[in-house]
Amino acid sequence: MKRMIDPRIPSTSGEIDLSQRMGSAAEEARELLVTVDDLAADSSPPAPKIEVRELTKESETTGEAILRGVSVAVPAGVIVGIIGPSGSGKSTLLRALNRLWEPPAGSVMLDGRDIRDLDVLALRRRVGMLFQMPALFDGTVADNVRYGPKLKGIDLSDEEVKKLLVMADLEPSLASKSSSELSVGQAQRVALARTLANEPEVLLLDEPTSALDPISTQNIEEAIVRLKKTRRMTTVMVSHSVKQIQRIADLVCLLVAGEIVEVLEPSRLSEARHPMARRFLELST
Ligand SMILES: Nc1ncnc2c1ncn2[C@@H]1O[C@H](COP(=O)(O)OP(=O)(O)O)[C@@H](O)[C@H]1O
Ligand SMILES: [Mg+2]
Repeated sequence: MKRMIDPRIPSTSGEIDLSQRMGSAAEEARELLVTVDDLAADSSPPAPKIEVRELTKESETTGEAILRGVSVAVPAGVIVGIIGPSGSGKSTLLRALNRLWEPPAGSVMLDGRDIRDLDVLALRRRVGMLFQMPALFDGTVADNVRYGPKLKGIDLSDEEVKKLLVMADLEPSLASKSSSELSVGQAQRVALARTLANEPEVLLLDEPTSALDPISTQNIEEAIVRLKKTRRMTTVMVSHSVKQIQRIADLVCLLVAGEIVEVLEPSRLSEARHPMARRFLELST
């Protein structure tokens, strides 16, 4: 089933008119269109930041379908939430976007280029990822933050490290602390700062606050929203929390049994029509 977030591409089923429903995200995308149109003097829509085309995956062990033709176009500078029942393929979808598994040729594009044609390490710098549990290296917080740039021969200054910590909603004084002394909430924000050190264009977040207390969750959410506002970060976030999605996402994809069955604005989630999606939403917190 085909679902597109790009407001210029109409829904194939006619059920979802995103051009009317997207609100601020649509406005933003339209503003971008005007700029592109002015420059290029043609009417083609802007290339989405990420485009997934008919992405499929089968289980290597059982042959069962895990993703069944997922199509979605994510505009730049937008926070897209992915929710759905456990086992519906959310992590599998997210992991395709930076080649933690190899998607079929032509099924995942970044700025219009097949991600398979990009150097995988370069891709992962551009498309950073955070998982449910942060995994920091031994050493200080600063060592962790410096890691990515160091691989490219760049040594971040103390000032740059501190800026990255602030971007991730952390106290700059944390830089000299050992990574083993952090709370999970702090560690997750250090993991975010470490990802941001690579200057990513896209963040993939797989339930990044599931292991965190409400305050740490709020810290992470604030950092993500600030990154959107200040750096026009494109974010795709899997969450088990409908409330979280309603707090921060511009658009929500509902994934059920390997298919995107609805794409909605968070404020309109109650309008979901798919029976499984409705049931999931009713039972969710
Ligand atoms: N590498 C794999 N090989 C086989 N099955 C997998 C693999 N990865 C995930 N699965 C299966 O695919 C389905 C979707 O998993 P996942 O993407 O982790 O779902 P979610 O993140 O929505 O909970 C599950 O049934 C899971 O067991
Ligand atoms: Mg998952």
